[in-house]
This record gives sequence, structure tokens and C-alpha cells, in this order.
Amino acid sequence: MSKFKLLKKEECVPNLHKFVVSVPDIARKVEPGQFVLIMVDEKSERIPFTLADWDEKDGTITFFVQEVGLSTTKMAFMEEKDSFYSIVGPLGEPAYVDNFGTVVLGGGCFGLGAIYSVAKKLKDLGNNIITILEAKNESRLYYEDEFRAFSDEVIFVTSDGSKGEKGHIYDVLEEMIVSQGRKIDHIKVIGCNVMMSKVSDVTKSLGNIPTYATVSTIMVDGTGMCGCCRLTYDGKTKFACVDGPEFDAHKINWDELIGIRNTSYIREESLSLQNFSPQCRSLAKILAKMNEEESI
Ligand SMILES: Cc1cc2nc3c(=O)[nH]c(=O)nc-3n(C[C@H](O)[C@H](O)[C@H](O)COP(=O)(O)OP(=O)(O)OC[C@H]3O[C@@H](n4cnc5c(N)ncnc54)[C@H](O)[C@@H]3O)c2cc1C
Ligand code: FES
Repeated sequence: MSKFKLLKKEECVPNLHKFVVSVPDIARKVEPGQFVLIMVDEKSERIPFTLADWDEKDGTITFFVQEVGLSTTKMAFMEEKDSFYSIVGPLGEPAYVDNFGTVVLGGGCFGLGAIYSVAKKLKDLGNNIITILEAKNESRLYYEDEFRAFSDEVIFVTSDGSKGEKGHIYDVLEEMIVSQGRKIDHIKVIGCNVMMSKVSDVTKSLGNIPTYATVSTIMVDGTGMCGCCRLTYDGKTKFACVDGPEFDAHKINWDELIGIRNTSYIREESLSLQNFSPQCRSLAKILAKMNEEESI
């Protein structure tokens, strides 16, 4: 019997899936903010996912997957009862949590789900929680009820204004701080690097409000040895997999991370996805099934 069985998979919104997988060893040890490195099949690259939730008793972990390239597309084709080739974790430092006072949590894309465990922990520590959920439009928002269950306030923001405010997380923050004069003690964001860098610019310019971002870097080994996930932080080299993935957003060199490091393999990434044609997808499914049968 293969390990790492996919117990539940649900497409929450188009191209974004919730996965519940059996990995008791990880469910027992993980802390909010940590991640796992996953190989879909024996030939796959290793890609990181933040754990949104877990159940120690059932031995399950939950994470959200946004389809962006080859590996996440392969995951979108998986079915319940399929298995992953490998899942390693928990990795990285837990998120920085404390009783800060009023905390704003901002999530976009996969970050809507990924910030969930950190949000719950911050509530347990007695913080006043304001959650800002961002998406392109109303049909891309998910996990609303789950956040409402423990947030003191939930704010929606969409690029087209179809639900909540029109704009982005940083627009909402600016409005709250400048126009409404609200005092915010701590901000955490998870989502795409561009959104997080803009939040960082706004909160820096409005008086250096403590802002923490979970960076999305390319990763390979996840143990600080390959150097793939490096970023410049406060003028020094840091590795997102062991020093992070959460960092003080104001000290990150965002231009280097977004413009140079994360675009290094764009050509190869798009070629590998193109080559994963519908025929290849069918073949991949058949091979996965054969591997599954062999391992039983
Ligand atoms: C600590 C951490 C936690 C993350 N958590 C989540 C999550 O919970 N849900 C989610 O959907 N995504 C998450 N990501 C991003 C996710 O790992 C990438 O989207 C995924 O690796 C892309 O793989 P791909 O083959 O589908 O796409 P590719 O075609 O390989 O790449 C598409 C984009 O993803 C980036 N990317 C490529 N390879 C990696 C890699 N090994 N690690 C990180 N980024 C990469 C590329 O720069 C490119 O912009 C996280 C990233 C990090 C670093
Ligand atoms: S992934 Fe290799 S050093 Fe971080």
C-alpha cells in the first residue's frame, strides 16, 4: 500500500484545489506557518505547500493548490485514493506569533487557505483578528465561513469590485490606516510576491507597521543546502526553506526576488507545461495507476 494517500480533493474555485492527505508523522509535529515539499510522482520536481490545517487524531494534513505550471497541473489531475510519491515535512520555521493586539491577515490566491492555521493560532493567543481576503472576482473567493468562525472582522476585496471593496489588500490597508485612522499592531500576508511587496511598500511608508510575508521562492531540497531559495534580507543572504519562509517584509529585497530569482526558469517552466499535452496527461494517469497497482 502506498503512503501519502489523497483522501479528499475538492476544487474550491476554478483551478484551485483543497487536498487532504494522510501523513500522520507530519500531522503530529507541524506548527502554523510550516510547509511540506511534495513530489507528485517519481520523476517530479519537489514543490512546497504551506499547511493550512491538520488533524493529529486522523493523521491528515490539508493544503490548497493553485494550478500554475506542470507539477500543480499534475496534482489537479489526481483523484481521491491516488497517492503522492513523497511528502517531506514539516519544514521551515513556524510563523512568528504572539499577543500583538490588532492583527490584519491578508491572503490572496492560495494564500486565502494558507494563512488559515496562522490566523487560528493568533486568535487563540488573544489577538483581535481582521482578515482581508483578496481575489480577482467574487467567484474566486473561498473559505469564507471558516474565516468568519474566528475573525473579529472579515473584509473582501476584489479587482473588479464584484464583492466587497474594489482593489487590492494594500488599498484596503491604506484606507483603514489613513482614512479611518485605525491602529494596527501587526500584519501578515501570504499570496503572490507582487501583492506582498506592495503591502510592504504601503506599511513601510505609513510608519513601518510590523509586516510579515511568507515568501514564494523556488525550492529544491528544503534543507538549506542547494541555495535555490535564497533571497537578500537586510543585506544578507537567507534561505527561505530554513530561515523562513516568513520574514519581516520591510527587510526583503523584493526587486531581486521577483525580477531575477523567481523568473530564472520561466522558459523551461512554460515548455514543460506545453509538453504535458492531453495525450501525456492520459499516459501519466495510466502510468500512475500501474505504479499504484504494483505497490499494493
Ligand atoms: C514556502 C512556500 C509555500 C508555498 N505554499 C503554497 C501553497 O500552499 N499553495 C500553492 O498553490 N502554492 C504554494 N507555493 C507556491 C508553489 O510551490 C508553486 O506555485 C509551485 O512550486 C509551482 O510549481 P509548478 O510546476 O506547477 O509551476 P512552475 O511552472 O514550475 O512554476 C510556476 C511559478 O511557480 C514558481 N515556482 C516554480 N517552482 C517552484 C518551487 N519549487 N517552489 C516554489 N515556487 C516555485 C515559479 O517561479 C513560477 O513563478 C508555495 C511556495 C513556497 C516557497
Ligand atoms: S530549497 Fe535548497 S536551500 Fe532552500
